Amino acid sequence: MYRDPVQSLEAPSLPSSATAMRPLRVGMIGIGTVGAGTFRVLARNQALIAGRAGRGIKVVVVCARSLARAMSVVGKEVALTNDPMQVATHPDVDVLVEAAGGTGPARDWVLAAIRAGKHVVTANKALLAEHGNEIFAAARQHGVAVAYEGAVAVSIPIVKALREGLTANRIEWVAGIINGTTNFILSKMRDEGVGFAEALAQAQALGYAEADPTFDIEGIDAAHKITLLAANAFGMPLRFADAQVEGIAALQGLDVACAEQLGFRIKLLGVARRRQDGDGADGVELRVQPALVPANHLLAHVDGSMNGIMVKGDASGVTMYYGAGAGSEQTASAVIADLVDVARLDGTHAAQRVPHLGFHAPAIHDHLAVLPRAAVHTRHYLRVPVHQAQQIEAVGAWLAAQHVPVARVQLACAQQLPAGGAPQVLVLTDAVAQATVDLAVHALGAHPAVAGPVVSLRVEMLEG
Ligand SMILES: NC(=O)c1ccc[n+]([C@@H]2O[C@H](COP(=O)([O-])OP(=O)(O)OC[C@H]3O[C@@H](n4cnc5c(N)ncnc54)[C@H](OP(=O)(O)O)[C@@H]3O)[C@@H](O)[C@H]2O)c1
Repeated sequence: MYRDPVQSLEAPSLPSSATAMRPLRVGMIGIGTVGAGTFRVLARNQALIAGRAGRGIKVVVVCARSLARAMSVVGKEVALTNDPMQVATHPDVDVLVEAAGGTGPARDWVLAAIRAGKHVVTANKALLAEHGNEIFAAARQHGVAVAYEGAVAVSIPIVKALREGLTANRIEWVAGIINGTTNFILSKMRDEGVGFAEALAQAQALGYAEADPTFDIEGIDAAHKITLLAANAFGMPLRFADAQVEGIAALQGLDVACAEQLGFRIKLLGVARRRQDGDGADGVELRVQPALVPANHLLAHVDGSMNGIMVKGDASGVTMYYGAGAGSEQTASAVIADLVDVARLDGTHAAQRVPHLGFHAPAIHDHLAVLPRAAVHTRHYLRVPVHQAQQIEAVGAWLAAQHVPVARVQLACAQQLPAGGAPQVLVLTDAVAQATVDLAVHALGAHPAVAGPVVSLRVEMLEG
């Protein structure tokens, strides 16, 4: 008789040892977008998840400010409280899911849970980027796991890819579009030719941007995430405070159009690159910035609110990961994957587990520093407003004399320009230290041919 293979997968019979094990007991702080999605997917796929975890996973207590709203999600079977510490230290809880957000109180709850011997699962990238070093040290001391797959690009298992799938590799760089809100805005600016303010308003109206979008548009959210990826890629502590962060609020529609003319698209990229150059640069570039990527590059085609991440390993070559960057069940997918990991490892010795940042503590390079902005080495795009189109040659020659390796110079097409606007010289450079470009751009402002502020953006080729 025919049996649907999918159905047989969804209703697995547990191994007898698994049925004998008691379920992993979960306490949740927060039952909003992420918490409710996690609760829903855990309930819907209960048998399937238990089959993979080797035991059931059961939410036993939930904390929220509004208990009525919480009860509308979890029903009457689950204990409710509005005291987060009660969940963090609850004697019946094996693992805390912190799904409330924020950094100050969340740090206290997570540390309290760790000290009480509980594992922790969180999608809170701000918490980990800012307090991760302290939290992971406490977790090591108390022999518990802190899992955070949902903190970066939600349903894309990029933390797992770096920590497990790519362990053979010396990672050269990780780069990606890791903020869906800004990618949505940039896609609107390009596709509809609208300015930043209008694209942001559309993103807010459609629910892709918060009422206060600062963290997203200033690049801070992406910086939290690239900080976590850099630590996993290179075996370094979390160095969020050293990251160079530039958002998209100052980006002009004219540059989006001029980038197109040159065969590029502008994306807000998080980049972490290991540098060990002959010239003595030894460290990590850790940065978020709007950058030009070639229009035929895979990352240029990550549009709307989607995320895409590339990793270059010395053995693997370039690998790419694509998927949703936000969403209730999308984040739940990652949170539950972490819970399954915890269910599988609970009881094993901490030294046998996948380490929090992909490297065991003695192998983390405390000395590995973030390189200063001046040492960052990339190609550049410059847009130089001039009084007359003929001054294009003077601009190119002047930049070359300042040791800027000019690769291409051309005028912006007339149809890109606002009516009556100054002609614009577009320059693409070869790779050069940021210090050289910053000096040249600053001095170029005083050149008699130049009619306004010079715009400078990085160009990322992200080649295999
Ligand atoms: N949303 C996403 O797509 C997404 C994706 C990846 C990561 N994340 C991260 O996941 C975390 C949660 O995000 P979210 O979107 O789920 O937030 P949310 O929808 O605003 O939900 C927050 C939940 O936490 C509760 N809460 C907040 N502060 C509390 C406090 N002091 N005491 C008790 N309960 C408290 C809220 O309770 P009340 O509702 O009763 O106020 C609510 O249930 C954040 O760190 C976020 O960065 C979110």
